Amino acid sequence: MTGEHSDLIREGKVKRVLSDPASPDTIIIEFTDAVTAGDGAKRAEMLGKGKLACETSLLLLRYLQQRGIATHLVEKLDGPRLRCRRVEILPVEVVCRNIAAGSVCRRYGIEQGTVFKRPVVEFFLKDDALGDPLVTPEVAVQMGLATEDELAFIRSVTLSVNYYVRELMRQVKLTLVDFKLEFGRTPEGELLVADEISGDTMRVWDETSTSLDKDLFRKSTGDLVSAYVELLERLVSADTKAVGPRTERIVVEVMPKRGVKNPPGEVTMKALRRLGMKGVQDVRVGKLFVISLDRPVSPALMRELEAMNLKLLSNPVAETHHVRL
Ligand code: TMP
Ligand code: ASP
Repeated sequence: MTGEHSDLIREGKVKRVLSDPASPDTIIIEFTDAVTAGDGAKRAEMLGKGKLACETSLLLLRYLQQRGIATHLVEKLDGPRLRCRRVEILPVEVVCRNIAAGSVCRRYGIEQGTVFKRPVVEFFLKDDALGDPLVTPEVAVQMGLATEDELAFIRSVTLSVNYYVRELMRQVKLTLVDFKLEFGRTPEGELLVADEISGDTMRVWDETSTSLDKDLFRKSTGDLVSAYVELLERLVSADTKAVGPRTERIVVEVMPKRGVKNPPGEVTMKALRRLGMKGVQDVRVGKLFVISLDRPVSPALMRELEAMNLKLLSNPVAETHHVRL
């Protein structure tokens, strides 16, 4: 916290995180020209790469923010630097896939290029010593990496990011194959999309299925910097306003509290027994509210919903409620 001076907070493989002399609530992310693959086993410097990854991230994070997705981005600074909210990065990487490529092919023997019927969301544990293994949501919760509700929120936001970026790319004849997101927790406990979204963290194919991403470096199949220029130029030319909203559905489940009499449940229980169903001990009848929205879930929306649940949807004395995303 000293004058104009920025202290190094963390030195990553391709980015530096610096303290922000302007505020303790923000940090500065500096993109370097380093490129790495295979957990740093392969490494190079490419002039201009940092600036391109920074500009691409800026464009996509800004676009996502305009579409109602909460991210850590505050503003662009001079050079390949972004001012971002200071958050605690969750130790999970979230990968979303539309088309099979990379580790999902190696892991399951799926042929590269196989189109998934629905986007696949995977969680990986951020642990270099363990090689960033795949982690199931159940294990992630047991390890205390995030709560079940946080994982549901992360999954929903990830699918929204996928929709908005995929549709933007479709306009300029690019295919979003897959991407990785990181999430950060604010001191208030809100989750934001953090880190970068660039050719380093996505797979993107052009109309000839040529990669415009880090696969060119991983596989030594082409010039990364010119591909990143192409990717950025196309994204700049896309019309962000032409992408229609994705309809999000939120389900609020309201149930009578344990111990509160539930006459509809008793009637149903008697009917089931009369029909000969064996082993019925109890039946509880609740309510479901299915709410369709034209915007993604966000921390602000979750707060609003919580306030509304208490006022409108459930009677907090006699009922419990649970929001499902
Ligand atoms: P994967 O196929 O290697 O699991 O990668 C899926 C996507 O996630 C791909 O677009 C590259 C990106 N990714 C990262 O950004 N950082 C990583 O450490 C890994 C393993 C993948
Ligand atoms: N992100 C990892 C690295 O930079 C692995 C990869 O993306 O291939 O080493």
